[in-house]
Amino acid sequence: MLPTRTQLSQAWPLASRVDEDGRLQLGGCDALELAREFGTPAYIVVEDDLRARAQTFVEAFRARTKNFDVLFASKAFPCTAVYRVLASEGLACDVASGGELALALRGGFDPARIYMHGNAKSVDELRQARAAGVGHIVIDNADEIERLEAVVGDGDPQPVLLRVTPDVRGMTDDKISTGQADSKFGFSMPDAPAAIARAEASAALDLAGLHIHIGSQILELDPFRRAIEAIATLGDFGTYNLGGGLGVAYTAEQEPPRIADYVAAKVQTAERVLGPGKRLLEEPGRALVANSTVTLYTVQSVKRNVSTWVAVDGGMSDNLRPMLYGAVYEAQIADRFTHSGTGGGGTPSRLAGKHCESGDVIVRDVELADPRVGDVVVTPATGAYGHAMANNYNGVPRPPVVFVANGDARLVVRRETYDDLAARDVDA
Ligand SMILES: Cc1ncc(COP(=O)(O)O)c(C=O)c1O
Repeated sequence: MLPTRTQLSQAWPLASRVDEDGRLQLGGCDALELAREFGTPAYIVVEDDLRARAQTFVEAFRARTKNFDVLFASKAFPCTAVYRVLASEGLACDVASGGELALALRGGFDPARIYMHGNAKSVDELRQARAAGVGHIVIDNADEIERLEAVVGDGDPQPVLLRVTPDVRGMTDDKISTGQADSKFGFSMPDAPAAIARAEASAALDLAGLHIHIGSQILELDPFRRAIEAIATLGDFGTYNLGGGLGVAYTAEQEPPRIADYVAAKVQTAERVLGPGKRLLEEPGRALVANSTVTLYTVQSVKRNVSTWVAVDGGMSDNLRPMLYGAVYEAQIADRFTHSGTGGGGTPSRLAGKHCESGDVIVRDVELADPRVGDVVVTPATGAYGHAMANNYNGVPRPPVVFVANGDARLVVRRETYDDLAARDVDA
């Protein structure tokens, strides 16, 4: 049975609830106690949520086709413990660099079920993929074909997919839209036929099929359908990697399609326009991991200016998304929720980070229940591209990652130390 979420909007992890005393419980653990034990800021991952979403994707495909695989798009949360959980749920994996490949292998993924992406793979990364026995390399451009041929040499042909940009845009921020014409990713529709012919003629490459990924945080199904229709004109292949991109709820107001409806739209369209029985690959990142995780912060100051500025001990070093592309989040005080967790009913506030940039604002408009110094503030839905994009701006050590399940908490990534900040210095 899937874990449930009580009294909270769908931005929050499954297996979380607000208890009788108004305190947030995550995977059976009290949020304030987690803050006390592990410090703040901290990423708290509800393991049952992670597992449940992986199972939901797999079951949605299994109900509709025999020939499929679900790949964890690991750029969303490249953390060994997350790789381990998703490998143990039977998923395959997509990596976007040599570093993610190293982590995926460390996390226990079978190299044969790893797909390597990247629009600027180096010779070293291609060699690493070959040495590891990576199942498929997803070719992005003509230069890469030549580079990979040179790396393969007289060796066994490398199975590849060709990434095509279908000239379809989903409604999402420009910075995370990839399917439009003139994208930096993949072969354009006009260039794709020659690239396909070139790959098919190559003795070093074994072209298994095509790949598309039109962008991220897409909340409607039609663009996914149109993208599949677009590539149907490019020939008949055994395998189609249909990318990821399903959006999630960051706030109570956002209503993403259900995973089952999204999978049904993709599978039905693929069967209709590509033909029955094709091997279909799905690459969710955000929709697998975003809502599994919350970030805990501690309030350091409450400044009543024109607005009320609630400043916490993290910010753009642990969540870059609001600053990169205006991503919205909700926030709550861990033991004083407003309106049962759906926002509203508190002090209109700006939740600011600690960094030396005016743009370092985690949530621009949020209602917090009488915010005070020392309060633990929680932002939900920080599992995707939070830890992944974390950085050391202002010399702030990156936060720990803590897994919670059935009332137990375990540290899976420790907080960085000041020594870590100098660990690469060579002048000692
Ligand atoms: C090639 C590819 N596949 C899958 C994904 C995962 O996308 P999402 O996290 O939106 O599911 C990405 C993300 O940018 C991507 O570039």
